[in-house]
Amino acid sequence: MDLYEYQAKEIFASHGVPTLPGSVADDPAGAKAAATELGGPVVVKAQVKTGGRGKAGGVKLAENPDEAQTKAEAILGLDIKGHEVRKVLVTSASDIAEEYYFSILLDRANRNFLAMASVEGGMEIEEVAATKPEALARIAIDPIKGIDAAKAREIVEAAKFPAEVADQCVDVIVQLWDTFVAEDATLVEINPLVKDPQGTIIALDGKVTLDENAAFRQPKQAELVDAQAEDPLEAKAKEKDLNYVKLDGQVGIIGNGAGLVMSTLDVVAYAGEAHKNVKPANFLDIGGGASAEVMAAGLDVILGDDDVKSVFVNVFGGITACDAVANGIVQALKILGDEATKPLVVRLDGNNVAEGRQILAEANHPLVTLVDTMDGAADKAAELAAAGA
Ligand SMILES: Nc1ncnc2c1ncn2[C@@H]1O[C@H](COP(=O)(O)OP(=O)(O)O)[C@@H](O)[C@H]1O
Ligand SMILES: [Mg+2]
Repeated sequence: MDLYEYQAKEIFASHGVPTLPGSVADDPAGAKAAATELGGPVVVKAQVKTGGRGKAGGVKLAENPDEAQTKAEAILGLDIKGHEVRKVLVTSASDIAEEYYFSILLDRANRNFLAMASVEGGMEIEEVAATKPEALARIAIDPIKGIDAAKAREIVEAAKFPAEVADQCVDVIVQLWDTFVAEDATLVEINPLVKDPQGTIIALDGKVTLDENAAFRQPKQAELVDAQAEDPLEAKAKEKDLNYVKLDGQVGIIGNGAGLVMSTLDVVAYAGEAHKNVKPANFLDIGGGASAEVMAAGLDVILGDDDVKSVFVNVFGGITACDAVANGIVQALKILGDEATKPLVVRLDGNNVAEGRQILAEANHPLVTLVDTMDGAADKAAELAAAGA
């Protein structure tokens, strides 16, 4: 889960990283009040979970509270790379002498952690990496040893941070490592980390990605979820404990087992090439021991997706045999009643397949088509989606 800048900086501050005071507003009057409270010039900053806000007109200086209100008016409602601005952070403005970059991240390719630092902060780091790779220091971090003051100093030297700020940067880097570990983050990033004209180091921006696998031991982090910004279908699936990811195609997919669902996505994408290029609309794994209720919950989520024009239920009977799954589908359609409106293509195979197919054949539900092979079923589901699109 990505956090907003204001949340990231609150977390940074709680671990000692120097940030500037500020508060969040969701309307222009609130921004004016926040600026009055802070006093002095402020910066009004769009709170969206994407970078490049500055370039997109989402970060503006305001000399006084009235100006903060006008700037907030201009920023609220902006669309920044597909993210609608619903909140702004009003924070004290800093004079800037230099802008640096620093991050710690999970380096999946190298199965390790990685620290990156540069004196070329402010601009997008991908650009620095592409055009001036020598300006971006990359230091592997041993997960057991972490970052102590000595390691931090090594990073500061590799990045060529100026001598007069070296000690402060060492402190910030150690504090960010503490943040990374204590919060179960997979990314902490400051861009820009600035030196002000007095030589003080401050984090002016902040990005944090939390590892959702650690949510069970981070109960406080539940408060950081922005329900408003969450995809409503994903939120509904999460509520029902379903393993669901929304994609942007037209064929809804339900399967049992992550591997089977992944290959179903591939097969449907391939079949779709012959049918107006329809694509999978989602990933949904209902797991090995899926009951009728789980099947109903899954169908409910998928049928609630307006983009979905057909559904492919692809099940390999194992511990839960095909007859139980078939009963589950029949039950699920009963539970959903009139809410089930889109054609379902069902492919069953594995344990008790004959019984399963017989149950579906006998139920003879008008929305259900039984197809014996995975390729055949994918083709049928794609054809139906193309016809409904
Ligand atoms: N509090 C602040 N005071 C002065 N300048 C700021 C402040 N916050 C941001 N800026 C300036 O705006 C630029 C963009 O802001 P930033 O928070 O990095 O957003 P983004 O990375 O999304 O563009 C920064 O590089 C900095 O130059
Ligand atoms: Mg930034």
